[in-house]
Amino acid sequence: MKKINLANGQSTAFYDTGKTTNALPVVLLHGFCEDSSVWDAIMPFLNELRIIRVDLPGFGKSALPHPPGMDAYADAVYAVLDGLELEQCLLAGHSMGGYTALAFARRYPGRLAGLSLLHSHPYRDTPEKIENRRRGIDMLQSGRKNLYVAQLFPGLFAPDFARLHPELLKTLIAQGCRQPTGGITAALQAMIDRDDHLDTLRQAGFPVQFILGGQDAIVPPEQGLAAAALPAMADVHLFPEVGHMGMFEAPRKTAAALAAFWQLVNTRNRADANKTQTII
Ligand code: MLT
Repeated sequence: MKKINLANGQSTAFYDTGKTTNALPVVLLHGFCEDSSVWDAIMPFLNELRIIRVDLPGFGKSALPHPPGMDAYADAVYAVLDGLELEQCLLAGHSMGGYTALAFARRYPGRLAGLSLLHSHPYRDTPEKIENRRRGIDMLQSGRKNLYVAQLFPGLFAPDFARLHPELLKTLIAQGCRQPTGGITAALQAMIDRDDHLDTLRQAGFPVQFILGGQDAIVPPEQGLAAAALPAMADVHLFPEVGHMGMFEAPRKTAAALAAFWQLVNTRNRADANKTQTII
């Protein structure tokens, strides 16, 4: 684990593993109430690549976002890239990690060669979702974090998978309960306040990948498919049996889709670089 100090004095933790090759490094961003360990299940399938897993502010070993808001998460990712002197990367975000990746794409488009959204989308919260998040903040602020977290995780999986994997749910709930109350609350507020990213996707000059679950109750497939029509270059995977947590529910298929997309973007990048050289 390494840490990078941000301009505001806070620090962001990350794990930088794998091989440095001429392929672009990959940055993975976890979802809400999780930390970078959420990627452990797919890491064995991605061992040919340099992978940077960030603990988003307020989760894992990273300090709280300051000032709070989705841009604080994007800026923390930018600080990690800058600290590692990486000009460009492939960014993959799961759910809230995808909201962060979209905020990053809008703020720092030149630093992105490709974007993967896993069970994520570019839309703002609905009034119903905002209401639910506010209820969550009330629970957290009245000391009921464990109950809040215990209610959160079962609904993230396809029902059959959740029934067959009680131990995994127990582990994720225990990890979620260890996340700081301030971090969870700040993330809920940041999601309430976030903008939509329809234009970010429409204007994306890089390929965008969508990995969707047919049984995802948080990002229903029709919402993901509508979003996939926005960018000029999109790669879409819909796994019918999967809920919101493809990295656990279908780790091989999820890793294979990610790796194939990254290879495609790397090939495209090299072809572009050769074209530039020929013109010069
Ligand atoms: C997540 O997994 O990050 C959350 O489900 C995102 C959300 O609540 O919108």
